[in-house]
Amino acid sequence: MSNFRTLDAAGDLTGKTALVRVDFNVPMEDGRVTDDTRLRVALPTINKLRDAGAKVALLAHFGRPKGERVDSMSLEPVVAPLAALLGAPVRFATDCVGDEARAAIDDLDAGGVVLLENVRFHKGEEQNDPAFAAELAALGDLYVNDAFSAAHRAHGSTEGVARLLPAYAGESMRRELEALDAALGSPKKPVLGIVGGSKVSTKLDLLQNLVSKLDKLAIGGGMANTFLAAMGQDVAASLCEHDLGDTAREIIKAAEKAGCELLLPVDVVVATEVSPNAEARVRELGQLQPEEKILDAGPATVARLEKAMAESRTLIWNGPLGVFEVPPFDAATVRAARTAAALAQSGVLTAVAGGGDTVAALNHAGVVDDMTFVSTAGGAFLEWMEGKVLPGVEALRS
Ligand code: 3PG
Repeated sequence: MSNFRTLDAAGDLTGKTALVRVDFNVPMEDGRVTDDTRLRVALPTINKLRDAGAKVALLAHFGRPKGERVDSMSLEPVVAPLAALLGAPVRFATDCVGDEARAAIDDLDAGGVVLLENVRFHKGEEQNDPAFAAELAALGDLYVNDAFSAAHRAHGSTEGVARLLPAYAGESMRRELEALDAALGSPKKPVLGIVGGSKVSTKLDLLQNLVSKLDKLAIGGGMANTFLAAMGQDVAASLCEHDLGDTAREIIKAAEKAGCELLLPVDVVVATEVSPNAEARVRELGQLQPEEKILDAGPATVARLEKAMAESRTLIWNGPLGVFEVPPFDAATVRAARTAAALAQSGVLTAVAGGGDTVAALNHAGVVDDMTFVSTAGGAFLEWMEGKVLPGVEALRS
């Protein structure tokens, strides 16, 4: 983390205006925020700046309006829940640049907060147009990026403006970067990865990067079927990308070469349909009936994974092991999640997880707060696991 400028290095902020990039791309229904996790994530930075006497101008995007003003993608519905969480008034400005934004900021007292309208209403945002970034920069004295989950975008408010003002990582960005460094940057070894989810095709770069870095990699979910089939196993009626056999075999070879032990299922839970009332059976590999679908990892597979966790010092997890949304096919994911959380709590395992489905699965297992760190980022977490450079993070390097 010494590589990144943090707010502690920002000096006296009294009366200064901090432009703070947050990720308020929150789930919304009928103009109401239905999950305020991302608002909560931003609170430590906002409060730290307010306590330091700064004016806080929040920059955020919502949806993908493609450079046009789209009323249903206004950030205004975020104002009330944010004010309630902060316990302080939050102003709203109907534009993120120009006179409207300037007037709203000028109107704030020290410690005041304004949310500026969706930055993606301007074409310059996604184009990372230097003129747009300069208009943003003109509004503040310093820039703080607290939106790791948007840091894979090289946009005006995530990258361009960071080049024009003194730029710092916010509190949530700092925690995220520290956790990610502990998981893949300079982790305690041995390091175990778990990658699940339905398709290999969406996680090719990620698998290729991980086998070169980890000591062991467990593959679960539908994507494990593609690997089993590539190794000549009959996966019957299961979800499987049969056309990716060569790719799966290449990944197996790359893992062997790099000394990364791949853990594929040794037994599976099957049913003929994905429904809560389906009759589920445990099958050894090679025993599947033609109409059966693999919907979860079996108990022997989970026991082996738990043993691997107990022998590791670091765990990095993305993607569920089965169809966890439909019990009883949640059993492997829940059991593995609880074991990881217990090991993290006892201090022997640094357990870091992330990605949309993963957070939902850990919530379902009731262990989100017991892991060492759970990232709420989707695309940014995946790109980071793929070993890609995140432009919003790079711009904060000292
Ligand atoms: C997210 O929700 O993952 C981030 O806010 C990024 O949104 P985007 O994929 O529209 O850039």
